[in-house]
This record gives sequence, structure tokens and C-alpha cells, in this order.
Amino acid sequence: MSDNTDETNGAPREPGESGAGRERVVGTPSPATEKQLLASQDVSAPAGAGEELDEEAAKRAERVVATFFLLAFAGSVAFIAYYIGWSGRDGGMHGIERARESNYWLGGMMALSFLALAIGVTIWVRRLMTSKPIVQERHELQADPQTREAFTEAFIEGAADSGITKRPLLRRTLLLAAAPLGLAPLVLLRDLGPLPEKRLRHTYWAEAVKKAKAEGRKGVRLVVDGTNAPLKVSDFAAPGSMITVLPEGIEENAHHPLNEIAKAVTILINVPADQFKPAKGRENWHVGGIVAYSKICTHVGCPAALYEQTTHHILCPCHQSTFDATDAAKVVFGPAARPLPQLPLGVEDGYLVATDDFPEPIGPSFWERG
Ligand code: FES
Repeated sequence: MSDNTDETNGAPREPGESGAGRERVVGTPSPATEKQLLASQDVSAPAGAGEELDEEAAKRAERVVATFFLLAFAGSVAFIAYYIGWSGRDGGMHGIERARESNYWLGGMMALSFLALAIGVTIWVRRLMTSKPIVQERHELQADPQTREAFTEAFIEGAADSGITKRPLLRRTLLLAAAPLGLAPLVLLRDLGPLPEKRLRHTYWAEAVKKAKAEGRKGVRLVVDGTNAPLKVSDFAAPGSMITVLPEGIEENAHHPLNEIAKAVTILINVPADQFKPAKGRENWHVGGIVAYSKICTHVGCPAALYEQTTHHILCPCHQSTFDATDAAKVVFGPAARPLPQLPLGVEDGYLVATDDFPEPIGPSFWERG
């Protein structure tokens, strides 16, 4: 049973003796004599190690590397220029209509920049750095002063071998390539701005109403979102109902239809006459209890599109802000700080029309709005 005796003659086995035919106790490591666990003392250098660089070839490699670094620089500068200069040319932060094109360009330029930098560094390492074996001895964690000094010397020697100290062209082009790449994430902070300025103060309703009035009409018709059918008062006669509407002609005439639709989208609610409380100064903004409010929640802008018929509450599903449709869409619950803006309504030839824009900016609060 003992592992230390030879099965053939029962004599004790010397450490290091061949283990052929002997049993191993389960869970013990295999005998060290079966495998060479430690490297031999003969650490030969790989072929070509330590050879002096051919200075002509090194110069050529240096120029190739510098070219790739310059390419990386150009890619990241182009990324920043495109991000700042062109990606927002359709209004909005990056232009909804051109978001895909914008992403392709930005992603392509960033990829080009990183790729060129990686190729440059790879060529540098392979063609310009000398190779020689380095033996690093392991010691206690706390290194003695001589070791630290030796490390410093090795580090400086390594830096010299890499060529970074004696090849200023590489050093400078590498720094040039890395600087804008480092700045690129900072540029992305532009998504925090700019301020919306006047863009949220007016919606397409203003433009459409102005155009309608110039043609001698009372206001612009409300069309049903999805069908674009103009809405008659008689079509929306059932109290307790809600529908989403847009200004007539927005898809055909607005300069940036998707942006304008996102801002102008409105909910129409038929509030029972006995529960309706018109706001002061807005007594004629409804048509027999039919009222219109912006669909964009005044908290952070989700569509406030849930309507509870029994309480006449408008609910925003994002953070549960609740607005009272019978009382000028005042906030009755949740984090929203302002009522939903109300759109003044009228009737013309039996059709519901908007007679003006929302009187205040739609959507969430922003600094200029206070
Ligand atoms: S966005 Fe409507 S409650 Fe937050």
C-alpha cells in the first residue's frame, strides 16, 4: 500500500527514482521526475534577438509608422469636425432623418482612427524595437533598493530600446494621434447641449394657424394621427373619449416633419360638460367640453397617452405623473411640475380647428423656461 516502496522488490524508493509501474495516491500531484517542471538554466535567445537594427530599414519603418499615426490623427479630427459641424445640420442634436448616416460616419472615422493607431504601434514594436531575452528574478514583494535601482535602469533602457527617446518623429506623431482621440469622449458631452432656445416655444400649430388665418379661415383643422382625416365635432361627440391629433398638412408642409410632429402631437379629450372646469381666461378654448392638451409630459417628455375615463385623469406611464383633464390638465400626482399646455380650440364648418399655438413651451422644463 505504501507509495514509497518498489512493487517489484519491496525496497524503499529513493526520491527522484523512476515511478514506472508504481501507484499514485489519488489527489497527489504527479512526481516531479516525470516532467521537467522548471526551465533549464540554458535560456537561449530567440533567433535574431539582440541584432542591431539596419538603420535604413528602421528609417523606412519609422516613416510607415508615422504615416499611420497621422492617419489616426486625421480620423479623430474628422470625427470631431463631423460631430460638431455636420451631424446636427437637420435641426435637433444629430438630425433624426440622418441619424443612420451620422452613425455610419462617426463610427467609421472612430474605427479608422483606432485601427491606424493600432497598426502603427504594431509595426513599431515589430520593426523598430530590438528583441533580447530578459531574465526577471522573483523575490520577496518588498524589493530592496538595489532591485528598484535595477528596475529603473531596465525601464530607462527599455524606453531607449523602444526608440521613443531617440526617434522624435515617432514620439511626436504618436502624441499627435493620441491627443484628439483622448478629446473625442469630451466632445460627446455636447449631447448635454445646446439649450433648446426658442425651439420648444413654438410648434407647427403656430405656423399652420398663421397660414390658415392668412387664407381667411378661423384656424387650422385637427387631423387624426394615423389617418390624417379632419375631425368634425360630431365625430367626437362621446364624452369620456380621447384621440391623438395633429395640425392638418404637417406631413406635407413642415420642413422637418418628424421633428415637428414630435412637438405638435396633441391629445383631444371630450370631458363631460357637468365635470368640466374651464380655466380662467380660457373659457372659450373648448368646444362643448372638448379640450386639447399637449401629449408631451412636462416631466421629462414621455407621451402622456393613458386616459382614465372614470376619473378623467391623463397618466404618463414613465413616472406616473397624473393630470386632471377636467381642470386645465393640472398635476394631481407625480413628479411633473407643470400642467400640460392647452391648445385653444374652435369650430369652423363643423370641423374642429386650433385657433392658436400652445401659449407656453411644450415638454419638460429647461433652464431658460425657469
Ligand atoms: S416623463 Fe412623464 S412622468 Fe416622467
